[in-house]
Amino acid sequence: MSVVSAASPRDAVRSRRTPDPCAVVIFGATGDLAHRKLMPALYRLARLGRIASCAVVGVARRPKTDEAFRAEMAEAVLGPSPPASARSAWTAFAQGLSYVQAEFGDALAYDRLRDALDRLDRERGTAGNRLYYLATAPAFYAGIVRRLGEHGLVVRSASGDAGGWARVVVEKPFGRDLASAHALNGTLRDVFREAQIYRIDHYLGKETVQNILVFRFANGIFEPLWNQHFIDHVQITVAETVGVEGRAGYYESAGVVRDIVQNHMMQLLTLVAMEAPVAFEADEVREEKVKVLRAARRLSSDDVARHVVLGQYSRGTIGDEQIPGYLQEPGVAPDSRTPTYAAMRVLVDNWRWAGVPFFLRSGKRLPKRVTEIAVQFKRPPLPMFRGAGGREPNLLALRIQPDEGISLRFVAKAPGTAMTLRPVDMGFAYAAAFGEGEELSEYERLLLDCMLGDATLFTRRDEVEEAWSLLAPVLTWWDATAAPSVPVPYAAGTWGPDAARTLIERDGRRWRTP
Ligand SMILES: NC(=O)c1ccc[n+]([C@@H]2O[C@H](COP(=O)([O-])OP(=O)(O)OC[C@H]3O[C@@H](n4cnc5c(N)ncnc54)[C@H](OP(=O)(O)O)[C@@H]3O)[C@@H](O)[C@H]2O)c1
Repeated sequence: MSVVSAASPRDAVRSRRTPDPCAVVIFGATGDLAHRKLMPALYRLARLGRIASCAVVGVARRPKTDEAFRAEMAEAVLGPSPPASARSAWTAFAQGLSYVQAEFGDALAYDRLRDALDRLDRERGTAGNRLYYLATAPAFYAGIVRRLGEHGLVVRSASGDAGGWARVVVEKPFGRDLASAHALNGTLRDVFREAQIYRIDHYLGKETVQNILVFRFANGIFEPLWNQHFIDHVQITVAETVGVEGRAGYYESAGVVRDIVQNHMMQLLTLVAMEAPVAFEADEVREEKVKVLRAARRLSSDDVARHVVLGQYSRGTIGDEQIPGYLQEPGVAPDSRTPTYAAMRVLVDNWRWAGVPFFLRSGKRLPKRVTEIAVQFKRPPLPMFRGAGGREPNLLALRIQPDEGISLRFVAKAPGTAMTLRPVDMGFAYAAAFGEGEELSEYERLLLDCMLGDATLFTRRDEVEEAWSLLAPVLTWWDATAAPSVPVPYAAGTWGPDAARTLIERDGRRWRTP
């Protein structure tokens, strides 16, 4: 199964281009995301020669010199005691790093930022090109964007035709609900054009997520079966073994619906359910994705409790490890109602999917870390081999992580004189087929795309709002209900509450154990 070479030729050419020199401005440069993801990604892109020159301006609250910022970033990227060879490569990259101390609400700080950017244009040839990355708490996004506009730091061009370009990357979560997402979109659009706005969902940077489209649309044999005539139902699972990992403050206000379902799961749903785009181009792809969300049936307030299960983990064990309950985690309110698990039945009311349920589930402290899409096909019309076993339906599993790959389950005759049937799996494993190459990690790929001006793997305004609109009844129900069963407890190390089993079994289906 060819994957890399099956991408559109135009895309292959596009992703090998080198972006124009630009200044990357990271708001929140001393935070966790910048340390763990952004700076290592920029450094690797530079090391691989994928970006010609890189000037990074870190912006954050604490005072520090350029030198101190470089030393902090060196440790984040290289670790505490790197070998001399790593140090010398870093030194060249680090010359492009500088720091602007700023309280985000302080107007004068944006004048200092402008001076720093003008200097980079002169000294490092960044030619007025700016990539602003909002890597700080969402509460600051709108204020930063407004001040960038007020201080003349945004040219209204995504392509550089006005003597430099400006683009903005907005981290998740994008809003807390439909109204706040709509308001943030409004603020962004006051300052930037839509083509300049990159709403990032790092799941879309994963090779295996992009491969969903290649698998579906670069092969001739699957798409004719990809509809309500042949598919019984689809299960999308995003399972984590970890808990809140020191981020209780954030998680308490988000919960699984905002943290995972609204973004990552909606992206997986759209990719698996969308129609073929006219071309592998930003607006063509996003147009088809958003149609899936538009077609997804909205739940009435009466339906929510029947089609959605929210859970919260209690004490349990994963492997040999004793796991405290969510309520015992540091930073979690003792009476918190934050859900750490969600299961949901979604119907997509279009000709392709009429009557095919999509079952979504995601949770923390589940037995296994796995993200997969399982497409279960309908059974053959007649059970010809009665009493021989092997009644399992065909199942196509797209494994996003870990052990990335694809497997197809079908029934085979077990060797022997008796007619005994057994399900078997035919598999494709990414690592075995392609080995460890120089492929880019999620943040590397997405940062490179932003610098190249390719928004295909970013979420468009209407997409993010449709996703919130689909989930609005779930959030309202969670906020409004006083029922002690919301969220329902489940023991850590299990696959979620019993109610989630009931949700799918009521439909005559069963959750798969990945
Ligand atoms: N961390 C992740 O793995 C991850 C993953 C996906 C999405 N995200 C999203 O990325 C964003 C950043 O997350 P994070 O975990 O990196 O946050 P974080 O560790 O809390 O970092 C926040 C950053 O913002 C700066 N800051 C806070 N208040 C400020 C103010 N008033 N003025 C100026 N600077 C201020 C901090 O500077 P000081 O250090 O100087 O205070 C720090 O650099 C969030 O929206 C998050 O949801 C994070």
